Amino acid sequence: MEKISLANLPTPIVKLEELSKEYGKNIYLKRDDFTGTEVSGNKVRKLEYAIAEAIENKCDTIITVGALQSNHCRATSAVCAKLNLDCHLLLRGEDLEVEGNLFLDYMLGSNIHILREDRDLEKEAIKLFNKLEKLGKKPYIIPMGASNKIGTYGYIEAFNEISKYEEKEKINFDLISMAVGSGGTYSGIWYGNYTNKTNKKVLGFSVSSSSVEFKEKIMNILKEIDNNIEKFDSVEINDLYVGEGYGKSNREEIEFYLHVAKTEGIILDPCYTGKAFRGLIKEIQDGNIKEDNILFIHTGGLMGWTKEQRNMAYKIVDERS
Ligand SMILES: Cc1ncc(COP(=O)(O)O)c(C=O)c1O
Repeated sequence: MEKISLANLPTPIVKLEELSKEYGKNIYLKRDDFTGTEVSGNKVRKLEYAIAEAIENKCDTIITVGALQSNHCRATSAVCAKLNLDCHLLLRGEDLEVEGNLFLDYMLGSNIHILREDRDLEKEAIKLFNKLEKLGKKPYIIPMGASNKIGTYGYIEAFNEISKYEEKEKINFDLISMAVGSGGTYSGIWYGNYTNKTNKKVLGFSVSSSSVEFKEKIMNILKEIDNNIEKFDSVEINDLYVGEGYGKSNREEIEFYLHVAKTEGIILDPCYTGKAFRGLIKEIQDGNIKEDNILFIHTGGLMGWTKEQRNMAYKIVDERS
Protein backbone atom coordinates (compact mmCIF):
# COMPACT_ATOMS: atom_id res chain seq x y z
CA MET A 1 0.00 0.00 0.00
CA GLU A 2 1.42 3.38 -1.07
CA LYS A 3 1.79 6.18 1.46
CA ILE A 4 3.20 9.67 1.66
CA SER A 5 5.28 10.74 4.61
CA LEU A 6 3.45 13.29 6.78
CA ALA A 7 4.17 12.23 10.37
CA ASN A 8 7.27 12.17 12.56
CA LEU A 9 7.78 8.42 12.80
CA PRO A 10 8.56 6.23 14.62
CA THR A 11 7.06 7.83 17.72
CA PRO A 12 8.83 7.19 21.04
CA ILE A 13 7.72 4.75 23.72
CA VAL A 14 8.33 5.81 27.33
CA LYS A 15 7.77 4.11 30.65
CA LEU A 16 5.49 5.95 33.09
CA GLU A 17 7.69 5.28 36.11
CA GLU A 18 5.56 6.89 38.80
CA LEU A 19 2.21 5.54 37.63
CA SER A 20 3.80 2.10 37.20
CA LYS A 21 4.82 2.15 40.86
CA GLU A 22 1.46 3.51 41.96
CA TYR A 23 -0.62 0.88 40.17
CA GLY A 24 1.80 -2.09 40.35
CA LYS A 25 2.18 -2.67 36.58
CA ASN A 26 4.78 -1.73 33.96
CA ILE A 27 2.88 0.99 32.16
CA TYR A 28 4.33 2.39 28.93
CA LEU A 29 3.06 5.11 26.65
CA LYS A 30 3.46 5.24 22.88
CA ARG A 31 3.58 8.92 22.15
CA ASP A 32 1.55 9.26 19.00
CA ASP A 33 0.81 12.77 20.23
CA PHE A 34 4.36 13.39 18.93
CA THR A 35 3.51 12.67 15.28
CA GLY A 36 3.55 16.43 14.67
CA THR A 37 2.13 19.74 15.87
CA GLU A 38 -0.64 20.82 13.50
CA VAL A 39 -1.00 17.19 12.41
CA SER A 40 -0.45 15.72 15.88
CA GLY A 41 -2.14 12.52 16.99
CA ASN A 42 -3.31 9.28 15.43
CA LYS A 43 -5.12 10.71 12.42
CA VAL A 44 -2.02 11.65 10.50
CA ARG A 45 -0.92 8.01 10.35
CA LYS A 46 -4.20 7.24 8.57
CA LEU A 47 -3.92 10.33 6.35
CA GLU A 48 -0.52 9.16 5.08
CA TYR A 49 -2.40 6.41 3.24
CA ALA A 50 -5.71 8.15 2.46
CA ILE A 51 -4.09 11.28 0.99
CA ALA A 52 -1.64 9.14 -1.01
CA GLU A 53 -4.64 7.44 -2.61
CA ALA A 54 -6.30 10.81 -3.31
CA ILE A 55 -3.17 12.14 -4.98
CA GLU A 56 -2.71 8.94 -6.96
CA ASN A 57 -6.29 9.36 -8.23
CA LYS A 58 -5.38 12.95 -9.26
CA CYS A 59 -7.90 14.46 -6.82
CA ASP A 60 -7.58 18.16 -6.02
CA THR A 61 -10.16 18.48 -3.22
CA ILE A 62 -10.58 16.59 0.05
CA ILE A 63 -13.95 16.32 1.80
CA THR A 64 -14.13 14.95 5.31
CA VAL A 65 -16.50 14.96 8.27
CA GLY A 66 -16.46 15.09 12.05
CA ALA A 67 -17.54 16.86 15.21
CA LEU A 68 -16.87 20.60 15.61
CA GLN A 69 -13.74 19.81 17.64
CA SER A 70 -12.61 16.93 15.41
CA ASN A 71 -8.88 16.22 15.64
CA HIS A 72 -9.10 14.33 12.38
CA CYS A 73 -10.57 17.35 10.56
CA ARG A 74 -7.86 19.62 11.97
CA ALA A 75 -5.12 17.21 10.86
CA THR A 76 -6.74 16.97 7.41
CA SER A 77 -6.84 20.79 7.18
CA ALA A 78 -3.11 20.98 7.92
CA VAL A 79 -2.19 18.28 5.42
CA CYS A 80 -4.32 19.90 2.68
CA ALA A 81 -2.76 23.30 3.36
CA LYS A 82 0.72 21.79 3.06
CA LEU A 83 -0.07 19.86 -0.13
CA ASN A 84 -2.11 22.62 -1.78
CA LEU A 85 -5.35 20.63 -1.86
CA ASP A 86 -8.75 22.27 -1.32
CA CYS A 87 -10.27 21.07 1.93
CA HIS A 88 -13.98 20.94 2.82
CA LEU A 89 -14.96 20.02 6.36
CA LEU A 90 -18.52 19.05 7.26
CA LEU A 91 -18.65 19.63 11.00
CA ARG A 92 -21.53 18.68 13.24
CA GLY A 93 -22.32 20.66 16.36
CA GLU A 94 -24.34 23.40 17.96
CA ASP A 95 -21.84 25.27 20.10
CA LEU A 96 -20.14 27.76 17.84
CA GLU A 97 -17.24 28.70 20.09
CA VAL A 98 -14.38 29.22 17.59
CA GLU A 99 -11.55 27.71 19.61
CA GLY A 100 -9.27 24.69 19.68
CA ASN A 101 -9.43 22.56 16.56
CA LEU A 102 -12.15 24.66 14.92
CA PHE A 103 -10.04 27.78 15.26
CA LEU A 104 -7.09 25.95 13.66
CA ASP A 105 -9.32 24.69 10.82
CA TYR A 106 -10.08 28.32 9.96
CA MET A 107 -6.43 29.33 10.24
CA LEU A 108 -5.41 26.49 7.96
CA GLY A 109 -7.78 27.76 5.27
CA SER A 110 -10.36 24.96 5.11
CA ASN A 111 -13.86 25.52 3.77
CA ILE A 112 -16.04 24.94 6.80
CA HIS A 113 -19.66 23.78 6.61
CA ILE A 114 -21.33 23.60 10.01
CA LEU A 115 -24.33 21.28 10.23
CA ARG A 116 -26.94 20.70 12.91
CA GLU A 117 -26.62 17.64 15.15
CA ASP A 118 -29.42 15.75 13.37
CA ARG A 119 -27.87 15.85 9.88
CA ASP A 120 -26.29 12.76 8.37
CA LEU A 121 -22.68 13.78 7.68
CA GLU A 122 -21.86 10.96 5.29
CA LYS A 123 -24.90 11.77 3.10
CA GLU A 124 -24.04 15.47 3.17
CA ALA A 125 -20.48 14.61 2.09
CA ILE A 126 -21.81 12.76 -0.97
CA LYS A 127 -24.07 15.74 -1.86
CA LEU A 128 -21.09 18.08 -1.62
CA PHE A 129 -18.98 15.65 -3.66
CA ASN A 130 -21.56 15.75 -6.49
CA LYS A 131 -21.82 19.53 -6.33
CA LEU A 132 -18.05 20.04 -6.47
CA GLU A 133 -17.70 17.54 -9.29
CA LYS A 134 -20.24 19.52 -11.35
CA LEU A 135 -18.07 22.59 -10.77
CA GLY A 136 -15.13 20.75 -12.36
CA LYS A 137 -13.36 19.68 -9.18
CA LYS A 138 -11.99 16.21 -8.52
CA PRO A 139 -13.01 15.50 -4.92
CA TYR A 140 -12.05 12.62 -2.63
CA ILE A 141 -14.05 11.72 0.49
CA ILE A 142 -12.31 10.59 3.66
CA PRO A 143 -14.84 9.04 6.07
CA MET A 144 -15.22 9.98 9.75
CA GLY A 145 -11.87 9.56 11.51
CA ALA A 146 -10.36 8.05 8.32
CA SER A 147 -11.45 4.74 9.81
CA ASN A 148 -11.77 2.60 6.72
CA LYS A 149 -9.51 0.03 5.12
CA ILE A 150 -7.03 2.55 3.75
CA GLY A 151 -6.71 4.59 6.96
CA THR A 152 -6.24 1.48 9.06
CA TYR A 153 -2.95 0.69 7.30
CA GLY A 154 -1.49 3.52 9.36
CA TYR A 155 -2.01 1.52 12.54
CA ILE A 156 -0.84 -1.77 11.09
CA GLU A 157 2.39 0.14 10.52
CA ALA A 158 2.28 1.44 14.12
CA PHE A 159 2.05 -2.18 15.30
CA ASN A 160 5.26 -2.94 13.40
CA GLU A 161 6.95 0.01 15.11
CA ILE A 162 5.90 -1.42 18.48
CA SER A 163 7.33 -4.84 17.55
CA LYS A 164 10.67 -3.28 16.60
CA TYR A 165 10.78 -1.47 19.95
CA GLU A 166 10.05 -4.72 21.79
CA GLU A 167 12.84 -6.49 19.96
CA LYS A 168 15.33 -3.72 20.63
CA GLU A 169 14.43 -3.21 24.29
CA LYS A 170 13.84 -6.93 25.02
CA ILE A 171 10.35 -6.41 26.34
CA ASN A 172 7.05 -8.00 25.43
CA PHE A 173 3.90 -5.93 25.87
CA ASP A 174 1.19 -8.38 26.76
CA LEU A 175 -1.52 -5.74 26.56
CA ILE A 176 -1.94 -2.82 24.13
CA SER A 177 -4.71 -0.35 24.86
CA MET A 178 -6.15 2.79 23.28
CA ALA A 179 -9.22 5.01 22.91
CA VAL A 180 -11.83 3.97 20.36
CA GLY A 181 -13.69 6.78 18.58
CA SER A 182 -14.28 5.45 15.08
CA GLY A 183 -12.37 2.16 15.29
CA GLY A 184 -9.47 2.54 12.84
CA THR A 185 -6.68 2.73 15.40
CA TYR A 186 -7.95 -0.35 17.20
CA SER A 187 -8.44 -2.26 13.94
CA GLY A 188 -4.87 -1.63 12.77
CA ILE A 189 -3.31 -2.74 16.06
CA TRP A 190 -5.62 -5.78 16.30
CA TYR A 191 -4.76 -6.81 12.75
CA GLY A 192 -0.99 -6.40 13.34
CA ASN A 193 -1.30 -8.62 16.40
CA TYR A 194 -3.41 -11.12 14.46
CA THR A 195 -1.14 -11.45 11.43
CA ASN A 196 2.05 -11.59 13.51
CA LYS A 197 0.48 -14.16 15.87
CA THR A 198 1.84 -12.17 18.81
CA ASN A 199 -0.99 -13.14 21.14
CA LYS A 200 -1.33 -9.83 22.88
CA LYS A 201 -4.52 -8.64 24.43
CA VAL A 202 -5.75 -5.59 22.50
CA LEU A 203 -8.14 -3.63 24.69
CA GLY A 204 -10.01 -0.60 23.40
CA PHE A 205 -12.00 1.87 25.48
CA SER A 206 -15.03 3.41 23.84
CA VAL A 207 -15.45 7.17 24.13
CA SER A 208 -19.01 7.17 22.78
CA SER A 209 -20.94 4.15 21.47
CA SER A 210 -21.63 0.75 23.05
CA SER A 211 -19.08 -2.06 22.82
CA VAL A 212 -21.53 -4.03 20.63
CA GLU A 213 -21.72 -1.20 18.08
CA PHE A 214 -17.96 -0.76 18.04
CA LYS A 215 -17.25 -4.47 17.69
CA GLU A 216 -19.53 -4.52 14.66
CA LYS A 217 -17.81 -1.49 13.17
CA ILE A 218 -14.32 -2.89 13.80
CA MET A 219 -15.27 -6.29 12.35
CA ASN A 220 -16.46 -4.54 9.20
CA ILE A 221 -13.19 -2.65 8.85
CA LEU A 222 -11.22 -5.86 9.44
CA LYS A 223 -13.27 -7.77 6.86
CA GLU A 224 -12.53 -5.01 4.33
CA ILE A 225 -8.82 -5.55 4.97
CA ASP A 226 -8.90 -9.33 5.01
CA ASN A 227 -11.97 -11.46 4.42
CA ASN A 228 -10.18 -14.62 5.53
CA ILE A 229 -10.23 -13.74 9.23
CA GLU A 230 -12.17 -16.51 10.90
CA LYS A 231 -12.49 -15.43 14.51
CA PHE A 232 -13.13 -12.05 16.02
CA ASP A 233 -13.61 -13.12 19.66
CA SER A 234 -10.45 -11.32 20.74
CA VAL A 235 -11.89 -7.94 19.67
CA GLU A 236 -12.40 -6.42 23.10
CA ILE A 237 -14.01 -3.03 23.66
CA ASN A 238 -14.82 -1.75 27.13
CA ASP A 239 -17.64 0.83 27.19
CA LEU A 240 -17.84 1.43 30.94
CA TYR A 241 -15.93 4.72 31.00
CA VAL A 242 -17.81 6.90 28.52
CA GLY A 243 -19.12 8.87 31.51
CA GLU A 244 -21.45 11.79 30.72
CA GLY A 245 -21.13 11.15 26.98
CA TYR A 246 -18.93 11.96 24.01
CA GLY A 247 -16.74 14.98 24.66
CA LYS A 248 -18.18 15.60 28.14
CA SER A 249 -16.28 15.42 31.41
CA ASN A 250 -17.13 15.09 35.08
CA ARG A 251 -15.11 16.17 38.07
CA GLU A 252 -13.67 12.74 38.80
CA GLU A 253 -12.31 12.46 35.26
CA ILE A 254 -10.74 15.91 35.35
CA GLU A 255 -9.17 15.08 38.72
CA PHE A 256 -7.60 12.01 37.15
CA TYR A 257 -6.17 14.04 34.23
CA LEU A 258 -4.69 16.49 36.74
CA HIS A 259 -3.13 13.59 38.62
CA VAL A 260 -1.48 12.22 35.45
CA ALA A 261 -0.29 15.72 34.52
CA LYS A 262 1.23 16.34 37.94
CA THR A 263 2.76 12.87 38.33
CA GLU A 264 4.20 12.25 34.85
CA GLY A 265 4.19 15.66 33.15
CA ILE A 266 1.82 14.27 30.52
CA ILE A 267 -1.37 15.94 29.36
CA LEU A 268 -4.21 13.69 28.27
CA ASP A 269 -7.14 15.04 26.27
CA PRO A 270 -10.58 14.89 27.90
CA CYS A 271 -12.41 13.46 24.88
CA TYR A 272 -10.33 10.37 23.97
CA THR A 273 -7.05 9.49 25.70
CA GLY A 274 -8.22 10.76 29.09
CA LYS A 275 -11.34 8.60 29.19
CA ALA A 276 -9.53 5.56 27.86
CA PHE A 277 -6.48 5.82 30.11
CA ARG A 278 -8.70 6.38 33.15
CA GLY A 279 -10.66 3.28 32.15
CA LEU A 280 -7.46 1.26 31.89
CA ILE A 281 -6.23 2.41 35.32
CA LYS A 282 -9.64 1.71 36.91
CA GLU A 283 -9.62 -1.79 35.42
CA ILE A 284 -6.12 -2.33 36.87
CA GLN A 285 -7.29 -1.08 40.26
CA ASP A 286 -10.30 -3.40 40.15
CA GLY A 287 -8.01 -6.38 39.50
CA ASN A 288 -9.43 -7.02 36.03
CA ILE A 289 -6.09 -6.79 34.20
CA LYS A 290 -3.82 -9.80 34.64
CA GLU A 291 -1.18 -8.63 32.16
CA ASP A 292 1.91 -6.88 33.57
CA ASN A 293 3.56 -5.12 30.62
CA ILE A 294 1.06 -2.64 29.34
CA LEU A 295 1.34 -0.22 26.43
CA PHE A 296 -1.18 2.60 26.10
CA ILE A 297 -1.20 4.63 22.89
CA HIS A 298 -1.44 8.38 23.44
CA THR A 299 -3.34 9.32 20.29
CA GLY A 300 -3.12 13.10 20.81
CA GLY A 301 -6.07 15.48 20.94
CA LEU A 302 -4.71 18.23 23.19
CA MET A 303 -6.45 20.96 21.16
CA GLY A 304 -9.78 19.41 22.18
CA TRP A 305 -9.82 20.80 25.74
CA THR A 306 -12.93 23.03 25.71
CA LYS A 307 -13.39 26.22 27.69
CA GLU A 308 -15.75 24.41 30.07
CA GLN A 309 -13.25 21.61 30.71
CA ARG A 310 -10.39 24.05 31.19
CA ASN A 311 -12.50 25.97 33.69
CA MET A 312 -13.32 22.76 35.60
CA ALA A 313 -9.63 21.89 35.81
CA TYR A 314 -8.71 25.39 36.88
CA LYS A 315 -11.39 25.38 39.61
CA ILE A 316 -10.04 22.13 41.06
CA VAL A 317 -6.44 23.40 41.04
CA ASP A 318 -7.58 26.69 42.56
CA GLU A 319 -9.52 24.95 45.35
CA ARG A 320 -6.42 22.97 46.27
CA SER A 321 -4.08 25.94 46.46
C1 LIG B 1 -7.13 12.15 19.95
C2 LIG B 1 -7.86 10.96 19.48
N1 LIG B 1 -7.64 9.78 20.06
C3 LIG B 1 -8.29 8.67 19.69
C4 LIG B 1 -9.24 8.69 18.69
C5 LIG B 1 -9.93 7.43 18.34
O1 LIG B 1 -9.32 6.81 17.24
P1 LIG B 1 -10.20 6.01 16.18
O2 LIG B 1 -11.12 7.02 15.55
O3 LIG B 1 -9.23 5.45 15.25
O4 LIG B 1 -10.98 4.99 16.95
C6 LIG B 1 -9.52 9.91 18.04
C7 LIG B 1 -10.55 10.05 16.98
O5 LIG B 1 -11.60 9.48 16.95
C8 LIG B 1 -8.81 11.06 18.43
O6 LIG B 1 -9.03 12.25 17.84
